[in-house]
Amino acid sequence: MAASSPPRAGELLAEARRAFREEFGAEPELAVSAPGRVNLIGEHTDYNQGLVLPMALELVTVLVGSPRADGLVSLLTTSEDADEPRRLQFPLPTAQRSLEPGTPRWANYVKGVIQHYPDSGSVAARAQVCQQAEHSFAGVPCGIMDQLIALLGQEGHALLIDCRSLETSLVPLSEPKLAVLITNSNVRHSLGSSEYPLRRRQCEEVARALGKESLREVQLEELEAGRELVSKEGFRRARHVVGEIRRTAQAAAALCRGDYRAFGRLMVESHHSLRDDYEVSCPELDQLVEAALSAPGVYGSRMTGGGFGGCTVTLLEASFTSQVMQHIQEQYSGTATFYLSQAADGAKVLHW
Ligand code: GLA
Repeated sequence: MAASSPPRAGELLAEARRAFREEFGAEPELAVSAPGRVNLIGEHTDYNQGLVLPMALELVTVLVGSPRADGLVSLLTTSEDADEPRRLQFPLPTAQRSLEPGTPRWANYVKGVIQHYPDSGSVAARAQVCQQAEHSFAGVPCGIMDQLIALLGQEGHALLIDCRSLETSLVPLSEPKLAVLITNSNVRHSLGSSEYPLRRRQCEEVARALGKESLREVQLEELEAGRELVSKEGFRRARHVVGEIRRTAQAAAALCRGDYRAFGRLMVESHHSLRDDYEVSCPELDQLVEAALSAPGVYGSRMTGGGFGGCTVTLLEASFTSQVMQHIQEQYSGTATFYLSQAADGAKVLHW
């Protein structure tokens, strides 16, 4: 059984240059790429000022462009999933006139980044601008994980991010005997979009009730002691976050010393906590995790990302990969899609 192989940067670059030439009648002057990411552990901790441990993927988005002198921005997408129109034009924002989100929806995030982009600034400032664009133009009150890993990912490494201080440290992940398998459940429950902001609010409420700035400041013992101050549901949500932050620190240490079994156990604990306490899993993700855990050569498996559908991530011995994919597909009631990726670089300029 083979993993699906979406187009890589080279192919996408050729397609983007072709589309640009057709549309604007000239070669683009600049090309850049930004990676997708998978979070190995540390779920729903970023907006609680906690720790996360994602890695950048070889799957990328490519963007080509040229400056223009008339103060206008022309955007064109070749994505098949994009809503119509696939091309649009608007003036650059000024102090008097801001860009607004609207339709087509695919352009909203790009507009948001243009609107908020600073004249200069460190990497963290750029990540925060992209996060701001998600909040105000795409309508997702996300944390800072995706933006930081997209900027700072490095080949052969996962990235431990402290979402309170924004300090990051690279954790080697290039052992050839190890594979990271991403399994797409190919379901996306509509619940996801409304539950994410709700979880965020619940966490903030618990932190407030305990007199803390965020759940990052809360120890498990303090949460237990303050049980009466919060709702039963709030308690379980916070127990996930507080435990997950600790698991992420332990997992990063396990990866550093090459203890993949310990890492795998923490992944499974993370999944159970997301399923039972945070309640962001779904039957399809649970099934995929169970299936992976009953396959040979698997260290650990868990849902990854926001939840209510989407993907699982599995750490396994590379030599078992096709057997594991076969086994998962046989056990899964739906149709799974598999991606294998090494830990890859963050956003970069492409040359041709
Ligand atoms: C989404 C958000 C991230 C993070 C995850 C959950 O992917 O974009 O910021 O909160 O959910 O860990």
